[in-house]
Amino acid sequence: MNVLVIGNGGREHALAWKIRQSPRVERVFVAPGNAGTAQDAENVEISPTDFPKLIRFARQNHVGLTVVGPEAPLAAGIVDALQTEQLRAFGPTQSAAQLESSKAFCKNLLRHADVPSADYHVFRDAESAQRFVNERYPDKDQDVPLVVKADGLAAGKGVVVCSRREQVLEAVQRIVVDREFGDAGREIIFEERLNGEEVSVLAITDGRTIVTLTPTQDHKPAYDGDLGPNTGGMGAYCPAPLVDAATLSWIEEHILVPTVHAMKRSRHPFSGVLYAGLMITHQGPKVLEYNVRFGDPECQPLLMRLRTDLVDLLEATVDRRLDELPPLEWDPRPAVCVVMAADGYPGKYEIGKPIRGLAEAAALPDVKVFHAGTRLVDGQAQTNGGRVLGVTALGNSISAAKLQAYTAVKCIRWPGAWCRKDISDKALGRGKEEGGRESGEG
Ligand code: AMP
Ligand code: GLY
Repeated sequence: MNVLVIGNGGREHALAWKIRQSPRVERVFVAPGNAGTAQDAENVEISPTDFPKLIRFARQNHVGLTVVGPEAPLAAGIVDALQTEQLRAFGPTQSAAQLESSKAFCKNLLRHADVPSADYHVFRDAESAQRFVNERYPDKDQDVPLVVKADGLAAGKGVVVCSRREQVLEAVQRIVVDREFGDAGREIIFEERLNGEEVSVLAITDGRTIVTLTPTQDHKPAYDGDLGPNTGGMGAYCPAPLVDAATLSWIEEHILVPTVHAMKRSRHPFSGVLYAGLMITHQGPKVLEYNVRFGDPECQPLLMRLRTDLVDLLEATVDRRLDELPPLEWDPRPAVCVVMAADGYPGKYEIGKPIRGLAEAAALPDVKVFHAGTRLVDGQAQTNGGRVLGVTALGNSISAAKLQAYTAVKCIRWPGAWCRKDISDKALGRGKEEGGRESGEG
């Protein structure tokens, strides 16, 4: 069988690399891919949102399965478009993808399904949002613990965590009045600000059966110690000891299962990756958001540890027979992924810098360098994005995996390359840093 992966980031490189290991797969195409997928698979110059071209390509190249990486084509209905043409696709339909593409849809569903999440209010105009703030927080100097969110997709940037009134009002101005995120700001959501530590729990579901993956932890702020602006994710590791086996069962029972049932009941049956962004609060885990795809960079350490044939898992999902799949097998060793970024990211950055030392890093044991923002120019990998590489390593403990990942990072260089130095440190000091069932192995 031939498989087509859609997207061009680190997540798609990891997907293509893992799919390629399946003995049942002949060719793996990535549209449009990067310098890493050019080596581990075959790149195809088609944009992820050019549906007619993707369909034509899948037909002509006997693609038996299309795997969609990013949210934009899912929200635009790529899975529906492929299915209409009798082409098999892994991922949710456009209506099910609303779980990520509309925060108001997600919050309403969670409320109806009684899934723990922050209290919220939805507004359609700036005046009613401003009135709410003034009535609810009349004292000018009081703490205003609200999170302001644009309803639609805003590449992770449409969320402002506030503590003062001016911050809330400024966010309303930017999102609703100035339309900084375009139509994503047609509706605005105020959420109660939750406190705690964040963790990502990803599950694969065919709408009936749920297969939960190992809990992972992302590092969204740009700089060490969780300081600086938010990014797409500067590194991730798994298993995350923050979620032990008992907590993971609780999350399945009270969060994942009711969500999948509610999607079915509301006629948006969900199939694909259900990614729960959770806050572990004093009152227990609460949903911050849902994504409808693999996390990037969470996907990289997850797939590094997965021993099960990924194609078996993806096909069983598409064919709605996940219940027949044997339990997933994992490498017992933890994995750590460190993102190397371009100077200036998450703000403005330059591209086109030649990357050196990739072969040296790749030669290290238990290391895989996943490419994100790269492209091949005359056989040489160059930077082509803000998050450039996801250097991923396995180790006998989280600290050993971390050490190996940073040893590989040291081999790689280009002008302005940088990374966080503390990826996975949150796991340390928790005592139970080994992999396995203790740490909520799914
Ligand atoms: P989201 O895209 O909704 O996950 O929000 C992005 C980031 O904003 C999350 O990873 C959290 O760090 C933060 N965040 C979102 N919602 C809340 C909330 N209700 N309370 C505290 N922080 C939040
Ligand atoms: N790493 C966060 C995300 O994929 O949304």
